[in-house]
Parts: sequence; structure tokens; C-alpha cells
Amino acid sequence: MATGVFFVPDPDLLVLNHPIPYNLYINSSAVEGRDHFVKVFPLGDTLTKPDFVAMKAKYQQVYISELERGAYLRAICQYFGKTEEEKVNILKTSALHHLESIFNVKTDEISVDIINQTLDGCRQTVEGFVELLKNYELNQLHELIGNLSFHDFYTYDHSINVSMYCILIYKLLDPDAPEDKIINAGMGGFMHDIGKIKIPNKILNKVGRLTDEEFLEIQRHPTYGKEFLTQRGVTGPKGADVGLIRDVVYQHHENYDGTGYPNRLKGDEIQLLARVTSIADFFDAITTKRSYAEALSVEEALALMKRSRAKKIDPSIFDRFDIHMHEKYKERETDLHLADDFDPCQPHVKLKRIS
Ligand SMILES: [Fe+2]
Ligand SMILES: [Fe+2]
Repeated sequence: MATGVFFVPDPDLLVLNHPIPYNLYINSSAVEGRDHFVKVFPLGDTLTKPDFVAMKAKYQQVYISELERGAYLRAICQYFGKTEEEKVNILKTSALHHLESIFNVKTDEISVDIINQTLDGCRQTVEGFVELLKNYELNQLHELIGNLSFHDFYTYDHSINVSMYCILIYKLLDPDAPEDKIINAGMGGFMHDIGKIKIPNKILNKVGRLTDEEFLEIQRHPTYGKEFLTQRGVTGPKGADVGLIRDVVYQHHENYDGTGYPNRLKGDEIQLLARVTSIADFFDAITTKRSYAEALSVEEALALMKRSRAKKIDPSIFDRFDIHMHEKYKERETDLHLADDFDPCQPHVKLKRIS
């Protein structure tokens, strides 16, 4: 018997005639609320159409463990996704599901188990992103993101986008990096704002400038995130470097010139992946539809970010990013002005133009 949460897969999207990458279960209990899940088809065996028809006739409903949702979705991408956009959308659905399940938990109920489950789900999703983005250059990602279907939750979409940017920026810096390192880069981006779970929605969703007190509270999210990941027993799945992910979460608002928060770290004192994440965070915050009242064009965003070179962001990582982006996007100036207190975590403040 298996315990835990199970979901009903779409019968048309089960893998047939290939070894299946997940287990199939049935609920053998007839009593509502007393579920009793039993494995009827093991991972690695090949399911044929007649097998499945017979299984449906006998058991009506088959289930997959929530822990294997990532494998189920990756298999859909592999066998059913027709276009790259369809595949990313399938992976996004999985990512949103994981983010939703943690963002909807009451803060005082966030146990070590929930954090470990989130890290598991995060790794599965990011593995899918890494696989899919093998066919993508960093300078194609903005267009891909623009074509995806969006949900109403800025933090969720933003975490997914930042994860994808981190994967491709990291690959630009180290094209021969082993897959595990690239996955950790994506996981850092995916988890970077996880501490926002503890920030009240009325502050997160506030339109307009925050009060000093509210801004101080929002600035605590890197520390809250670090605390979640420092609890005893938080191990993450095999291959995940939780210490590294925790550094990204804790340091992604440190500025290269030492003016950031929470510890005013400078230059190389900031973990490389956190410096990568802060560029991904900044770029996504100013170029996606739902962040600012007006989303900037890539050219304008790059021109604006250039002014923060060596201040907010690492100059050499930014230069690599900038040169690569300009292979596709023409260099352009902008009259937008970046206030000293600009923070990618305040997505509703409109950027001003220099008069
Ligand atoms: Fe943040
Ligand atoms: Fe962010």
C-alpha cells in the first residue's frame, strides 16, 4: 500500500508502448475518505493500449503519486508536446503546481517535509527546463516567455522565468558545465523568492510605493527564505546542492557595490549563482508584462541595466549577457531613469522617464 497524495492523470496522455517513467496505482478502498492506494503497474514496464483498456475496465480509475508528477509531465513533453511552447507550458503547469502548494500553506505549517517536497518538485521541473532549453539560446528566451500563457500570480510566473534565465546565463558563462550544476542554477532561480511566503499578500500585491515599514518587511524575504532552507532535515533530492541554493536565496538582493541587503556583501563575496540570479531577476522584472505598467523592450531593458553595471550587478556577467543579447537585439539608448531605491522585488512601481 502507498500513502501520500495521488492525482488522476489524463488517460490520453499516458505513455504507451514505451517503458513508463512512473508507477500506476488504483484506489482499492470503497469507503470515501479512507483511500487505500495499491500499485498495479510498475515504473519501467511497458503499457500497451489493450493493457490500459483492460485496466480501465477492471479498476475504472488509475492514479499517479503526486511525488511523480514531474516524471509524468516530463514524459508528456517527450511523447506528446508538439511545439516547444506546448512543452514549456506543460512544464510551467507542473512548476505552478509546486509553487502553489507551498505558497498556499500557512506559514506556521511549513514543515521540513514540505520544504523537501518543494525541493523535489523544483528539481523535477528544472530538469525538464534544462532538457527543453537545450534547443534554446539565451537571446531567444524573452520571445518564448512572451508566447507562454500566463497566470495571475506575478511571483509564480516570475520564479519560473528567473529559473529559465539562470539556466541559460549560467550556460553562457560555463558552456561545458555538468548537468547537475546547471540544474542547481535553475533551482536557485526557481526558489529565489521563496521567503515571500512569509510576507503578507497585501504588501506583496500593493500597487504603488510601499511605506518604509512595508519595504523593510519585504526586504526580509531573503532571510526568511534562508531560514526555511537551514532547518535541520532539509536535504533536498539527490544531486541538489541545498547550501548553494540557500546562498542564492539569501544573497540575490546583495548589490555588486555593497549597497544591497541583507548583509551589504560586495563583489566576489556574493556567491556567483546569486550574482547570476540578480541579473535574471532584474531583467525579468522590467521586461515581463505583469511587472511594470509598461514592460520594457529588451533593448531598453539592457540600456537601463547597463547603468547599474558594477553598481547593482556584476559587470563581467552583465557584459557577457549584454553582448550575447545584442547579437539579436539592436543596441539602443533609453530615457528611463532608475531610482536609487529601485528594487526588482517591488514589481508595481512605474519607472520614470528622465525629463
Ligand atoms: Fe527577491
Ligand atoms: Fe525576484
